[in-house]
Amino acid sequence: MPLTDETRQRLIAAAQAVRERAYAPYSRYPVGAALLIADGTIVTGCNVENSSYGATVCAERNAVFTAVGQGRRQFAAIAIVTANAGSPCGICRQVLYEFAPDIVVIMADAAGRVRHEGPLRDLLPLGFGPSDLAEA
Ligand code: THU
Repeated sequence: MPLTDETRQRLIAAAQAVRERAYAPYSRYPVGAALLIADGTIVTGCNVENSSYGATVCAERNAVFTAVGQGRRQFAAIAIVTANAGSPCGICRQVLYEFAPDIVVIMADAAGRVRHEGPLRDLLPLGFGPSDLAEA
């Protein structure tokens, strides 16, 4: 299902808004993520850092885990907003792949300018997923 301009803008706006709530006193790199569910719902997450740095959780994973806790696992797209339209980390790519290997990933900067838009499979080729375990 291709994204409409209106949906893309709504998604990016949601990611911009939740980025304002990021807790990133150590990196000073706030991240906002907005997941588009197949039914049109948007679920958001921000990065939450910790003084024990390894306890930090990324924005994308917070959005995914919130959605799963709401019974939502049909992900169509995710918008990620950072200062420089940064790329999602490898752990978050893996977590997204579990539920939605074909999800469309949008990377945008703080002003909402899109730097990249494309399927997760391009960012995680030959990804490991549930079917790999089934074949074991
Ligand atoms: N971060 C994310 O929220 N998502 C990513 O995909 C990359 C990194 C966060 C983690 C940490 O709070 C800060 O950005 C710097 O790494």
